[in-house]
Amino acid sequence: MIQEVNPEDLPENQEEEQPAEVLPDDTPIDLEEEFKASNVQEVLDKLDQELIGLAPIKQRIREIAALLLVDRARQQMNLTTETPTLHMCFTGNPGTGKTTVAMRMAEILHRLEYVRQGHLVAVTRDDLVGQYIGHTAPKTKEVLKKAMGGVLFIDEAYYLYRPENERDYGQEAIEILLQVMENNRDDLVVILAGYKEKMDRFFQSNPGMRSRIAHHLDFPDYGENELMEIAKMMMRDLNYEFSPEAEEAFREYIQRRMQMPHFANARSVRNAIDRARLRQANRLFAGDTKNLKKQDLKTIEPEDIRASSVFQEGVPDPDPALSQ
Ligand SMILES: Nc1ncnc2c1ncn2[C@@H]1O[C@H](COP(=O)(O)OP(=O)(O)OP(=O)(O)O)[C@@H](O)[C@H]1O
Ligand SMILES: [Mg+2]
Repeated sequence: MIQEVNPEDLPENQEEEQPAEVLPDDTPIDLEEEFKASNVQEVLDKLDQELIGLAPIKQRIREIAALLLVDRARQQMNLTTETPTLHMCFTGNPGTGKTTVAMRMAEILHRLEYVRQGHLVAVTRDDLVGQYIGHTAPKTKEVLKKAMGGVLFIDEAYYLYRPENERDYGQEAIEILLQVMENNRDDLVVILAGYKEKMDRFFQSNPGMRSRIAHHLDFPDYGENELMEIAKMMMRDLNYEFSPEAEEAFREYIQRRMQMPHFANARSVRNAIDRARLRQANRLFAGDTKNLKKQDLKTIEPEDIRASSVFQEGVPDPDPALSQ
């Protein structure tokens, strides 16, 4: 008679609960292997390839990844450590890549098993703070519930604090956040983002918040060449290309746009490309619509760029609503 044997019943497969033991100091650990197993390299490579410039930010992210990896190895060696505080602050001007990098950070934290899911919940003051008494706590808690297991990204976090308003409900949201940042830091990472000066002022008035932030990353403005590279990358992703003259025109556009108010780095580049596509479509329709080629649909010509108000003298601001 054949007897079914459940492999789990076999003695060699029985796992015994190991009490935390003190391992000898010469117990080997292969960090390289740990690194490979985490697949973090993949995210770091993607970060390098898909984001132009940002060298100091990329460097800090590699450092944070190394810290987390070593921390994990230490845990395996039963070197008890407190869960490192991973809350961060991203400062920089609009369109410098803060939201984009926060999403990558969530992925890295997930791959290193610091958060269960690795999703990003992006909010501003209005998502956390209510208009009436009793509304703020449930709002903040609802957002925290959604973000648990991932990253809570609070854009322009300093607006949570309104000192001029004596009875501001923002303070209530800050207090709930502080508590959760302390008690749930093994399963929730909070990233505060915004302008550097405003954030510094916010921290001065909220030392409790400052002391819970472990990593401050300052995003630099992009230079002209970086903005050109970003433009070309965005065009490639959209299956468009500049004609050689259009590329020249776009460089000139950037040079002018950088000097104007409400310049928003990569975001302004994206908006400019969107408007050039609009003009290209109109140009194609206005011309000989029967005899077009695939190449025509792909190509942005200089007139699609030079028609922008940025090239008109005496126009101070091309389109504040779009370029912010
Ligand atoms: N270094 C970069 N390389 C390529 N694309 C970039 C880079 N930085 C930003 N972008 C692109 O520019 C756009 C704006 O970036 P993002 O939203 O991350 O900036 P932000 O700092 O969060 O801006 P804001 O302060 O306005 O919210 C996105 O479409 C993003 O993909
Ligand atoms: Mg953003």
